[in-house]
Amino acid sequence: MKFSMKPYRRYKESAKLWLYFFVRFTKHSNAFQKTEMGMLAGISTKFHIVEKGLAMPKVRYFFGAENILKLIDEMLEYDSLGFNKLNTQYVSAVIVLSRYKDLHLDRPLPDDGKIKGLFEKIDSFLVRNTALLTGNDGVGGGSKQVFLKEYTEQSRGDFAAICHARSTIRNFIDKEVDSEVVKRAVKLAQRCPSTCNRQTPRIYHIKDKQLIDKALTIHNGTRGFNENISCLLVVCGDLRATQGIKDLNQVYVDSGIFAMNLLYSLQYNGLGACILHWAVSTKVDKKLRKLLSIKDAHNVSCMIGVGYMPDEFNVAYSERLSVDDILTTR
Ligand SMILES: Cc1cc2nc3c(=O)[nH]c(=O)nc-3n(C[C@H](O)[C@H](O)[C@H](O)COP(=O)(O)O)c2cc1C
Repeated sequence: MKFSMKPYRRYKESAKLWLYFFVRFTKHSNAFQKTEMGMLAGISTKFHIVEKGLAMPKVRYFFGAENILKLIDEMLEYDSLGFNKLNTQYVSAVIVLSRYKDLHLDRPLPDDGKIKGLFEKIDSFLVRNTALLTGNDGVGGGSKQVFLKEYTEQSRGDFAAICHARSTIRNFIDKEVDSEVVKRAVKLAQRCPSTCNRQTPRIYHIKDKQLIDKALTIHNGTRGFNENISCLLVVCGDLRATQGIKDLNQVYVDSGIFAMNLLYSLQYNGLGACILHWAVSTKVDKKLRKLLSIKDAHNVSCMIGVGYMPDEFNVAYSERLSVDDILTTR
């Protein structure tokens, strides 16, 4: 048999690509150092939890004290490091804290030192940042009310209307999602582009409520709104369709593009959807695979909780960065 170095070269090249990514990741990721952008991402994560709480089907008063205390500490630290506070994320966070305070205006504080401390901290933080609350140049935050009739009309309007209407929905009614509608939405989503039209995305449609609940418990990111998620879609990418080792991340890109198209297709078909991250440990990944009998070659990218929406509900405001912050023209 003729000896060939080819497979060894592939292992070497593959390791080089992983290492290349690893070095860039550790150099730039917020996991390893404090930068302005990294801190803003941490602040966003925390105030978004508050926004979600404000938009829950049943708002729980005095929710998330621990998270808010950490959020304020991080915002103060950000300030003390001299980073720029005049950006949509920081301003939005201040607005969200003020909305949280407004929610409790007519409520007597419980006899709980931690909650009292929390509100004192919010008050002094807001006083310190009054200027950002008043002169915020149209930046928003908190939650906003949505009317189903309007939402449905806009979701079938022109593309700009669809984009502006779409929100992550975390408020569902107790109504089973029709499998035919899901199929229609998945079929429409298949119109998205994919690398060389390889069409690597594979979707697992979970209807069994017990399985859904178990999967959401494993995910652990839908507390407060998982009760009526009656359909769960798991978006995977088939690793067997990747070609060379340079396809390392392509399967995620294709799945991500598919997931976005699927969100719009669900919206077009009258369904509300909440995309759910799959940033988990190998142990958790294996747990989900076992529970849902996901094929080994199918790489989980994200999940989508789906359901029908009530006539009127709230969604998180989720302010966007200015286009000039993200668009570079050379
Ligand atoms: C990949 C991905 C993962 C997400 N994971 C979660 C999640 O686990 N739980 C959740 O409530 N929302 C999740 N979201 C929804 C985001 O919070 C939401 O898209 C963002 O705040 C913007 O709000 P909008 O979708 O209403 O415009 C996720 C979004 C993406 C794109």
